[in-house]
Amino acid sequence: MSALPGMHRLVLVGFMAAGKSTVGRRLAESLGWAFHDLDEVVESVEGRSVAAIFAESGESYFREVESRVTHEFLARDGVVLATGGGWAAAAPGRVEGVPEGTVTVWLRVSAAEAVRRATGEGERPLLDRAESTADAAALLRQRVSRYAAADFDVDTEGRTAEDVSAQIMARLARLPANHSA
Ligand code: S3P
Repeated sequence: MSALPGMHRLVLVGFMAAGKSTVGRRLAESLGWAFHDLDEVVESVEGRSVAAIFAESGESYFREVESRVTHEFLARDGVVLATGGGWAAAAPGRVEGVPEGTVTVWLRVSAAEAVRRATGEGERPLLDRAESTADAAALLRQRVSRYAAADFDVDTEGRTAEDVSAQIMARLARLPANHSA
């Protein structure tokens, strides 16, 4: 399917381990667009991992760099962007403030499933710091209203990345042709 009229970029939001990068890559392939993972962009700008940035410079420094790269990539057309789990929540109105022609999608995952998916990866400082599913659930609860500002949501629980991508493609096809969220 070719990209839809009026839609210039797609932004995936949601909690850690929701599958934003995996699904984003598939969607970019289906749309014939470029894919960028904003965490990876931050890592390449900084020349170190997200975990190292958090450990060495702190979360607020990470958020500053994240914000800078966000501005740059939201100015591009024909892109699918996977955001980090805190992106939507880090600044009020971030989801609502995306430029015209941007469709935002919330990939839903429960805290328990996020912890299960990420266990042992050691790549997510905030999830590693969450001592229990209850901590992750508390963080998710704080963020839900921000994620919910997306144009639509898709549940990822118990579903493959292929299924989730197919569902998003179907939803995109049903959006009004001149969508300009
Ligand atoms: C974060 C999620 C991570 C990464 C950083 C902070 C968060 O991205 O941006 O560790 O605040 O939820 P993923 O959602 O890709 O794990």
